[in-house]
Amino acid sequence: MMSGNQIEQLNDREKFHWYQNAQNLFWKSPIWEVQTKFNAEFNKKLLDEIYSIGYGIATGQDKKPKDSIWDYDKPNLNIIKQEIIDIVTKTITQQIPEIRMLNLKGCEHFFGWVNVHEPGEGLEVHGHTESAIAATYYIQAPEGCGELVLFDSSNAIDWKNTTLTGTPVVKERRIKPIEGKLVFTPSYVLHGVTENKSNDLRISLSTDLRKVVDKNTNNTVILKSWASRMKKIKEWKCSQS
Ligand SMILES: [Fe+2]
Repeated sequence: MMSGNQIEQLNDREKFHWYQNAQNLFWKSPIWEVQTKFNAEFNKKLLDEIYSIGYGIATGQDKKPKDSIWDYDKPNLNIIKQEIIDIVTKTITQQIPEIRMLNLKGCEHFFGWVNVHEPGEGLEVHGHTESAIAATYYIQAPEGCGELVLFDSSNAIDWKNTTLTGTPVVKERRIKPIEGKLVFTPSYVLHGVTENKSNDLRISLSTDLRKVVDKNTNNTVILKSWASRMKKIKEWKCSQS
């Protein structure tokens, strides 16, 4: 067994593999919470912009509704759009070894939308697909408007215990929404929202992000990573003789 100092001396790739083997984790489920610099005045303008987009689509004034909220060009929407990219990219590249090794260029918004929950409404448990990171920014969050509940299956089972003496427990993490807060997780993390028990609307902006990899670096996992192996199909025997 290695000491803490010995582990620290490993490079990122060795450390990651050692950690995976030592901990025997199937996966880890990081959940990040960041309180942004945006205040109530910013959020009010953002809500005005979002309302005007929704009004235009719902009334038919917007003849060609766009697919994603990010496809609309509005001042505060553009600001929060870029801020989410900056915060998510900085956080995941600093904290996840595999992503550091990939020389990630950044993230890009794949699809963004707005959640508006009336009193009495919640959201069933679900995961997000076709993306790497799922993020939510809270614009309006009155007291009691419903918590974000995330489920983490990692470490739920004690693999060293060969007899099932206890019931595996999936951990849940509850996050109380705060206006101006950004919460993000890997997209596979299942989550839901509890009932809005306030007497006002609960409004948040959600987005699915994809990673953008620098394809010019040597360790990027794209087809060229396998090129030397593919050449062996016809050249390997020649090199043996
Ligand atoms: Fe969601």
